[in-house]
Parts: sequence; structure tokens; C-alpha cells
Amino acid sequence: SIVILDFGSQYTQLIARRIREQNVFSVVLPCTASLEEVQAQRPLGIILSGGPCSVYDADAPPADPRVLELGLPVLGICYGLQFITHHLGGKVRSAEKREYGHAEVMVEDAGNALFTNVPPSVNVWMSHGDEALELPPGFHRTAKTANAVAGIANPERRIWAVQFHPEVKHTAHGTDLLRNFVFNICDAKPEWTPELFIQSTVAAIREKVGDGQAICALSGGVDSSVAAVLVHRAIGDQLTCVFVDNGVLRLNEFEKVQQNLRGKLGLNLVAVDASKRFLDKLAGVTDPEAKRKIIGNEFIAVFDDEAHRIAQQTGGVDWLVQGTLYPDVIESSSVKGPSQTIKSHHNVGGLPEDMKLKLIEPLRDLFKDEVRRIGADLGMPQDILQRQPFPGPGLAVRILGEITPERVALLQEADDIVVDEIKKAGLYQQIWQSFAVLLPVKSVGVMGDQRTYAYTCAIRAVHSDDGMTADWVPLPYDVLKKISSRIVNEVRGINRVVYDITSKPPGTIEWE
Ligand code: XMP
Repeated sequence: SIVILDFGSQYTQLIARRIREQNVFSVVLPCTASLEEVQAQRPLGIILSGGPCSVYDADAPPADPRVLELGLPVLGICYGLQFITHHLGGKVRSAEKREYGHAEVMVEDAGNALFTNVPPSVNVWMSHGDEALELPPGFHRTAKTANAVAGIANPERRIWAVQFHPEVKHTAHGTDLLRNFVFNICDAKPEWTPELFIQSTVAAIREKVGDGQAICALSGGVDSSVAAVLVHRAIGDQLTCVFVDNGVLRLNEFEKVQQNLRGKLGLNLVAVDASKRFLDKLAGVTDPEAKRKIIGNEFIAVFDDEAHRIAQQTGGVDWLVQGTLYPDVIESSSVKGPSQTIKSHHNVGGLPEDMKLKLIEPLRDLFKDEVRRIGADLGMPQDILQRQPFPGPGLAVRILGEITPERVALLQEADDIVVDEIKKAGLYQQIWQSFAVLLPVKSVGVMGDQRTYAYTCAIRAVHSDDGMTADWVPLPYDVLKKISSRIVNEVRGINRVVYDITSKPPGTIEWE
């Protein structure tokens, strides 16, 4: 594998993705990882990421400079270049001219292994306020911009570094550069494929679980479904999946998920209709955080009951399967501090504490698009794999004000029309999320000479890469028109449709 030491750059995950796109496995470790932890990955090479600090600051992240002495090829990127310079006897200082955004780089050492097939002048993406002023002994400059050093190397020591960001799409030939490092310098082989991943993961799960029993909470979403199918491939019906109707699922979702996962994929699935239990608890509650907490807690209670029942039937459960993805893993070990809670998120899962379950997280090394590739290789249908994200608290965070069975039914119908029309327009997969929101606002309308007084529904459609930031989608007017006229005509109880044109930030994607 290639180990990436994370100094806190917003682009660190991108480095890992770019390398994996070459079918070479790469892992991100916090820069504070010990030498043993780095070596335990049996790396073929090490990449030092960018980061927001200055190497000469007292609060610079404490990384072990001995990673530069392991004899493994090292590639420093941005802060990584400065780290190398600083620790091997060069000098880094605050730049007179900071460089952010596009910059023109001149390659000076074209024979350098890192720059094979890279033209002498390239447009790159820069983001730094420090620069290398004096190079460490044994290093030479390999590239420059008009203002500063853009690349250094010491091929004898097998250390290369660039000041710009090859992992960012805006850097021309960035992927060539990473390929040069991975294949020519580290001599990695492009062997990390979905097939291989499935084979080795299935074998590992089988070995780990033996004849034990596992359970898993399914949401019908991509991650939990792929995790379940993968584990099912390993241990068959020793895995019991639990799917809970929390009363705020989408139209016919309870039945559809059962058809897909039990019918098409053959999972051993327990479907629990707990909708009444959830809706009773939610009655009269209007505060968004209170709703979220109720649903989160209730889910854990229902799942806990099921887990104990399954344990009784099977003679004990030992394992809990979760669809944790790599970004969550990196996030929870990252060098960045905790951030403010905007919303208390709830995901399927939740550990029945007294059962002392051990975790199986078969996707914890994967990014979302890799999960989709694995799912496709496992023969899962595209309508599961391409599904837009749907929040754990479901339609509850899209019904403003009190949640009643009538309001849930209204929103289910409106939401179904939105999804249907977005799919018909061929837009479903290009859009991160598209849905309807039910507002507790009534207004006057007229239908067939009759006065109406009914609810308002908002349409939301956003583009996003990870849900952290988002932009509203300029949906074609004819699609909006179709959605609006269908909702008002078909959903009795809604007589007005509006379109949400707020980005995130300052808005959030869900309304609550
Ligand atoms: P917000 O509304 O915070 O949403 O901009 C960002 C992304 O997260 C999803 N979301 C959730 N997902 N449990 C989840 O699994 C939750 O409690 C939850 N709340 C929001 C939301 O749909 C969007 O994709």
C-alpha cells in the first residue's frame, strides 16, 4: 500500500482517492502515527500531505521525522515539502508572495522520475503561505514558479516533494505525477480491484466470525446494503438483518426494501413495523432536535429488542455489522478538533450495550464510489446502488412542525412525485439529493371554481460532493412545472409549491 500521513489538509482524502483510482491501495494515517503503525501497513511509499500549519510554529502537528529515514520513497505535498525541508536542515519561512489558486510551474529537472511525461510548463493548483527558502543538503530544485520553489528532490535518499497539489483536478498532469510516484518510484502494482477486495474481505470475515452469529441494521441505503450483502456472502444466514419501519419512510419503502433485499438478494431479513411506536412518541413534538433525539433513541430501543430476540433464537449473537465508510474513519481520527453540533445525526446501527457485540465494518476502508463499484461486482441492482442519500430520521426532518400520520402521507405522495419526475428527466443520478418538504403553512387557492385552503410544499434539489457543502440545482423550468402541477393536482391537501434556492452554507440540506 501507499501510506498518506495527514497533516490536516482539506485535500488529504483526495490523495487517497487518486491513488486508489490507479487500483493501488492507499491508507490515510494521522501525522501523529508512530513508526510502527506506519510500518504495520507494509507501505511501498509514503506521502506527506498538505496542512494548515507552519512547520516552524510551536503548535505544528507533531509527526515523527524518522519516517524520512525508513529508506522508503517519500513524496511531500505542500506542507509535506516544508516538513521535509525543515527537518532535513533547510529553511522555511513565511512567503512574501503567497500563492493561492492557479499558478504556472516550470519544470527544471525534466529527467526527474516524478516528472516523466509532464511537460516543461504546467498549470497547477497552489495553496500555501510558506515557502522553502533554503534547500536541505543533498536536495536540488526540480521546479519553480515565478515566486517560489515548486519542487525539490533528493533521488539518492528517495525523497521528492512538490509545493503544489497534484491530487486536485485543477492541476494539469497531477495524476501523471502521482502515477509516476506510485508506479515508477514505489514500484506498486495496480492490483487493488473490486474482485480482489471482495475475495479477501469475504475470506477475512469468514475466518473472523467462524460459526458465530451476526446482526445488522439495514436502512435500504447503499452503505448498509452493500455491507450486508458482503457479509452475507461470507457467512450466509448466520447474518440476520433488521429493517425497521419508523413511520417516516418514503412511499412504499418498507415493502420495496424487503423485495429488494430479501427477494432479489436473498438476505435473511427481519422487517419490523414499528411505525406506530415512533409516531406515538413523535405526537405533539415540533422542536427539530427533540424529533431527532426521539427517533434516534426509539430506533436503538427497537433494534435492541430485536437483537435480544434474535439472540434467543440463535443461541447468542456475537457480531454487529455496520456500514461505516472511510471518510468517517478518517474524520474520527483526524488532527482537526471537534466541530460544533449543527444537528445531531442519527445513523442506522446503535450498539445494544449489554450484548457486548464486536463490530464488523467491511467498508471502513472504502469511499462511497468504491462501495458502489463493490456493490455492482456483488451483483446488486443499480436502483439500490445509485440511490440518493436519505437521512436516518427520514421524512420527520422534512415535515416542519408536528408530525401526524396525515402529514406523513401527504409528504410521501409529494416526495414520490418529485423523485419520479426527476428520474424521468434523467437527472436523478446527477443530483445529490432531490425531495419535497412539507411546510406547516396553509394558503388560499382556487381549483375548479372552488376555494381551497391547504398546505404548502417546498421542493429541494442540491448538488454536493459529500453533503458538507451544497448548491441548489437550477432545475429546468419544465421539470419544475411538471412537479408542481402534479403535486397540486394529485396530492389532496397541498395547493401550493415553492422552490428552495438556498445553498449550504448558509442553509442546510434538510430543513430540520
Ligand atoms: P444537512 O441537513 O445537515 O445534511 O445539510 C447533510 C447530509 O446529511 C444527511 N442527514 C443525515 N443522514 N442521519 C443521516 O444518516 C441524519 O440524522 C441526518 N441528517 C441529515 C442529509 O440528508 C444530507 O445528505
